Amino acid sequence: MRQNRRFVALNLDEDIVGHPTLLFSLSEEAQAFVSEIVDDTFSIRLSLDMEPDGRHRASLHGPPDLAELFASLNLQARCDIVADGYNVRVLDALDMDTVSAGTTEKIVEGLELQNGAKVLDLMCGAGEISQALRRFAAQNAMEIELSMCDAHRSQLERADSETHECAADITVGDARALPYTKESFDAVVLKMGLHEVPQADQSLVVQEIYRVLKPGGRFVIWELLPGTGEIQDAFTDIVHKSNMLARCESQAFDRYFPRGDQLLWLLKSAGFKNIEPLLQTEFSYSTLARLKDELAGDHSKLAILNNFTRERVSQKLRDEVHWQDSGDNITIGVPNCIFRADKPM
Ligand SMILES: C[S@@+](CC[C@H](N)C(=O)[O-])C[C@H]1O[C@@H](n2cnc3c(N)ncnc32)[C@H](O)[C@@H]1O
Repeated sequence: MRQNRRFVALNLDEDIVGHPTLLFSLSEEAQAFVSEIVDDTFSIRLSLDMEPDGRHRASLHGPPDLAELFASLNLQARCDIVADGYNVRVLDALDMDTVSAGTTEKIVEGLELQNGAKVLDLMCGAGEISQALRRFAAQNAMEIELSMCDAHRSQLERADSETHECAADITVGDARALPYTKESFDAVVLKMGLHEVPQADQSLVVQEIYRVLKPGGRFVIWELLPGTGEIQDAFTDIVHKSNMLARCESQAFDRYFPRGDQLLWLLKSAGFKNIEPLLQTEFSYSTLARLKDELAGDHSKLAILNNFTRERVSQKLRDEVHWQDSGDNITIGVPNCIFRADKPM
């Protein structure tokens, strides 16, 4: 049993409900409790019954005295079913807008790949970084063994055919419990992915990356890193509002943009060394840029987002985020950074 929260992917029938990933997680309290009583013969089964009239029932099956034990320890079992935004959203405007000239090349160069390197493009989406890796290998007459991993099959299917053909492996998997054995890769790249998992789970992602890297392996991460707690809270709330307007509940509930100091702490705690910034620029978050892909062209939703943003960002904060408001469009600046980190030999 791992020390941290544990995630168990539950299989739902693909034919009935698309391809959702439902994760059953144990809180730290529950983890401590289960660690006490678990043995090889022990199993807990969660079942969900959804009825045509919309009623649903969740039941937990296990040893007969389980419910009593849960109650005596003040534990509850809970399960949320939310709209999985990545199964409805084709493009993520955040991915596209953060890319400026040369940044993709910077992330690939930062990996310092050698011929024959095994590379993981984690939370790869449609494989923008994988494409850049493919181009880099071709330009430098190198062979690389590319793995692409993302929690959503629908996102992996968006990758172009050339990238599909060149990838050695394309895997549906959760970054919090990577489906790879330890020390599998020379390099791992994570672009705009860490903020997709809730704060409590971000250390799991970094620990998993550390686990699957070979000794001496390189990790390169590209992330939006708000500078202060106040900016972080305001930016998270604005992105939450936009995701709720877009009906992407999972992104609204999960997304947490770490500050730079939090990312450094996560990397150091996992054991990474030689942590260095490779690029620090500013991303200009624009409410109008959400209109087409996120808000489905709905101007009334854009007006709601703009009003929310005006209320949420105080006058004092506006100077710090280089606030601009032209009526239809509000822009705020958020640091956009690439860091590299090494697993010691
Ligand atoms: C903002 S997109 C970034 C995609 C790609 N890295 C890029 O920058 O073009 C985030 C991606 O993370 C994936 N994702 C979200 N939660 C995940 C998880 N827990 N494990 C693995 N992938 C996840 C989503 O399916 C989505 O493709």
